[in-house]
Amino acid sequence: MAKTFKQAIVVGASSGIGAEIARQLAATGCRVGLVARREEELHALNRSLATPGKVFIHDVRQYDEVPALFQQICRELGGLDAVFYTAGILPRQEPEEFDFALDKLTVEVNVLGLMAWGHEAAQRFKTQGEGAIIAISSVAADRGRRGMLSYAASKAATDSYMESLRNRVGRYGVRVVTIKPGPVDTPMIAGMPNMPFMISAGVAAQRTITAAQHGATTVYVPFIWRPIMGVIRLIPSFLFQKLNL
Ligand SMILES: NC(=O)c1ccc[n+]([C@@H]2O[C@H](COP(=O)([O-])OP(=O)(O)OC[C@H]3O[C@@H](n4cnc5c(N)ncnc54)[C@H](OP(=O)(O)O)[C@@H]3O)[C@@H](O)[C@H]2O)c1
Repeated sequence: MAKTFKQAIVVGASSGIGAEIARQLAATGCRVGLVARREEELHALNRSLATPGKVFIHDVRQYDEVPALFQQICRELGGLDAVFYTAGILPRQEPEEFDFALDKLTVEVNVLGLMAWGHEAAQRFKTQGEGAIIAISSVAADRGRRGMLSYAASKAATDSYMESLRNRVGRYGVRVVTIKPGPVDTPMIAGMPNMPFMISAGVAAQRTITAAQHGATTVYVPFIWRPIMGVIRLIPSFLFQKLNL
């Protein structure tokens, strides 16, 4: 049954898909805890929301802050029924570049931050017997790419973590939803060459919220990426190595 969210957290709400999710949730009367590092962007977003939310400044690499911050947000919102983890980075790397510092940062933001928030949400929702945990993965999770070593790895880890979480808490009524977009027109990919089947952040957000409301498990956005990635996954490694992907 479709669920309407009354209180939600969006981690990574200051820009792109996260900001649009917050806007669309607020339009339905949901109170949103807006989490990210950029204070001005979050306050500006909050002022524009149909239902005012609350701003929380947080760097997702500060893992130790998460348990107390999570409880604080739940108290201030007066409850919680969804957590959207949309924080992420896509480092610009040359195909031949090895940069461990950048790789570490990518895993910290895209994976470890998700685990810190996902663990808190899973424990609360398991006790509640309901709730939704949503993470934005990517089609990039489906194959290792020479041009995005750590990004592809971080998204594959996202898929695996979310599946494990679903297998752990799905039986207690918790919805665990993995969203796998292709290119989305946000600051993350600004300046990159034109990409196929690009969608707006608004459309990505709308599909994400709908998937969460219906308790879907893994959703390609737009849907066309499911058969495309199905074919790409079948390309044998010796051939894939020769492709410029
Ligand atoms: N755009 C695409 O084409 C595309 C495609 C597939 C998947 N995705 C995924 O979708 C998600 C959202 O991306 P987007 O396109 O909306 O990107 P975006 O516009 O660049 O937004 C990224 C968000 O992540 C937050 N963030 C980054 N580092 C953070 C940190 N250390 N602590 C807290 N928040 C942090 C940013 O907030 P602050 O900088 O204010 O902290 C911002 O709110 C990402 O996981 C991305 O990988 C995007």
